[in-house]
Amino acid sequence: MAEKLLEVKNLKQYFNEGKSSEVRAIDGISFDIYRGETFGLVGESGCGKSTTGRTIIRLYDATDGEVLYDGVSVHANKSKSEVKELNQKMQMIFQDPYASLNPRMKVLDIIAEGLDIHGLVKNAKERKQKVVELLETVGLNKEHADRYPHEFSGGQRQRIGIARALAVNPEFIIADEPISALDVSIQAQVVNLLRDLQKEKGLTYLFIAHDLSMVKYISDRIGVMYFGKLVELAPADELYKNPLHPYTKSLLSAIPLPDPIYERSRVRQPYDPKKHHYGENEKIEFREVTPGHFVLCSEKEFKEMKAQVQ
Ligand SMILES: Nc1ncnc2c1ncn2[C@@H]1O[C@H](COP(=O)(O)OP(=O)(O)OP(=O)(O)O)[C@@H](O)[C@H]1O
Ligand SMILES: [Mg+2]
Repeated sequence: MAEKLLEVKNLKQYFNEGKSSEVRAIDGISFDIYRGETFGLVGESGCGKSTTGRTIIRLYDATDGEVLYDGVSVHANKSKSEVKELNQKMQMIFQDPYASLNPRMKVLDIIAEGLDIHGLVKNAKERKQKVVELLETVGLNKEHADRYPHEFSGGQRQRIGIARALAVNPEFIIADEPISALDVSIQAQVVNLLRDLQKEKGLTYLFIAHDLSMVKYISDRIGVMYFGKLVELAPADELYKNPLHPYTKSLLSAIPLPDPIYERSRVRQPYDPKKHHYGENEKIEFREVTPGHFVLCSEKEFKEMKAQVQ
């Protein structure tokens, strides 16, 4: 049996709760991530992906719900040493490689920050040595240590972000759109780097992306998010072969294929939530249609999907 490393239970994140400006960025989502797997989280801009990542690593308190890491509640009150331990195990690679690195700090100090906080090096020599090792791990070199973030390209900055996350030997990394800001030619390089690191270090990933084109190659299972809710969750192959929620179908229809004949006939299916025609008393729940394949749907839709997949 696969071991659950992370359990997200009915998590909610409402910004400006109770005010007219309230935003329900996450509205009751539940999923597990198994040790050693890559869980892809996809959905269009503003659906709550980054907020999910940030709430999991405690950058925000949750409005409601719970996150368990290795069986231990992330948001419950903790001692300083427990918080520190959790911060070492969970790291995040941030979405924007331009904004997420302090422009006034040298790469050496950016990467070494975690080493310092967690007391992982004894002296300046060891500190530098460890940073150089990390730079080499992500395909950069020791000359880069004494430069500032603005001296790097987007892809290189993302590598610095990866080195910074790796510095403290984490088990679990949240990679928030680590490749969206990069040229297509560089995207595959960064994805391959993340995969190699996963194999080598046995890492678990939450990999966030806004479309379904790249996550396919890196994810074991994928969750699809729409306006703060998970609408579908399935093993990656299954999701591509048998998408059940109309929003997932719409996302899939948006992926271009390198086949000109197919491309000419490809029709992007728009998604209109009104087309469900849910009644007032209908319970819209996350239901398991086939083993491991969940869809947010009504009882009636559930029965129709069941019939369709048999
Ligand atoms: N700190 C905040 N205060 C208020 N509202 C916020 C805050 N952070 C995010 N939001 C809102 O919450 C919603 C979800 O934002 P989030 O950044 O999680 O989306 P996302 O799925 O990561 O989008 P993108 O693909 O553009 O990165 C949006 O409506 C956003 O405006
Ligand atoms: Mg985001």
